[in-house]
Amino acid sequence: MIIINKIINMVNELIKPITPEKKTDPAEQKKPETNEVGQSNMEKINEDFQELLDIRLAKYKEDIGLKENESDPAKEAAINNLETHNGIVLGYGAELAEEMNLSDEDKTVVLTALMLHDIGKLNNPGDSFGTLKNHHRIGEEYTEEIMQEFVGKKIGEIVITEEMIPRIKQAIARHMNHPFMVMLNKGERYPEPETDIDKIVFDADMMANAGFKNVAFRITGDKFLEEDAATAEKKNISHIEATFDNVLEGVVGSFRIGVKYLPEAVLTEPSKSKTSEIVAQVLQIRDLMKDNDAFQNIQSQFADDEGKLTALSIAMKGGADILKKRINEEIQKAAIKLKIDSKVTKNFLI
Ligand SMILES: [Fe+2]
Ligand SMILES: [Fe+2]
Repeated sequence: MIIINKIINMVNELIKPITPEKKTDPAEQKKPETNEVGQSNMEKINEDFQELLDIRLAKYKEDIGLKENESDPAKEAAINNLETHNGIVLGYGAELAEEMNLSDEDKTVVLTALMLHDIGKLNNPGDSFGTLKNHHRIGEEYTEEIMQEFVGKKIGEIVITEEMIPRIKQAIARHMNHPFMVMLNKGERYPEPETDIDKIVFDADMMANAGFKNVAFRITGDKFLEEDAATAEKKNISHIEATFDNVLEGVVGSFRIGVKYLPEAVLTEPSKSKTSEIVAQVLQIRDLMKDNDAFQNIQSQFADDEGKLTALSIAMKGGADILKKRINEEIQKAAIKLKIDSKVTKNFLI
């Protein structure tokens, strides 16, 4: 595997000048747009919370070890992926906060918790599963430290008080029971959401996972690539289709981890209907991609001479980022045919 990785790195070096990648500076904060909250409201939220968003980005850079003016595509990609996720979570959460008629003060608490819910996620990146299982605890620690500096100061029109901090931390501590996380935690559930604020953060995070996001993990991890190759062979379908099926319909033992099952996991009334709507759209996109042979076409483009998709074949055909771009193109193409709003589709991309 070390040799393969070396070859992959060499190939990536060689193809760099041929396929220049558009770099996104992690400093460019993602500005989520949603229909219900409206673009101008999201802009106001991002403006009011700019200082907090800057602190979050600085913390991610510090945790992953990305120095000022340093260029490291892998670390930048990890930060960008997380910032994209944060933006989607914020968009859904802000919408829920409106629908559930929270007071202005509670809205500030929930928006802060939404922004900081994954603040601990890049701590100790060498041990990703260890960190993943514990990122709520690290998040609570960081939040205490960060929010103490805001006490007595205003965010938007609201003065931050000492009393708000434990409520923000509680929501962060209680956002962890995604079915995949419970499976990783050997079936033991994390603390359950109690208040509306906890539930909004939890639900928004679930909804942000209701797209094709995890396809990106499966096409970049050796273990997942092997697993999906075996499923594809068993079911006589393309590898890419097997990956999509796993992400959307995956069941491991008693854990229903697929996107399809997320409507069962969300807690608030508005999220239940919204998540069902999102999941229906995601499944329609998958079905149309299948009907249009999109999976087969992507597979042929990135497979080796024997038609197999491996880390090496992906690297030889342009790399994982090009493959992701290609998958996103097909998702968008299908979504346009299904007349799904592009702002909605944006939340589904990988
Ligand atoms: Fe999280
Ligand atoms: Fe999250």
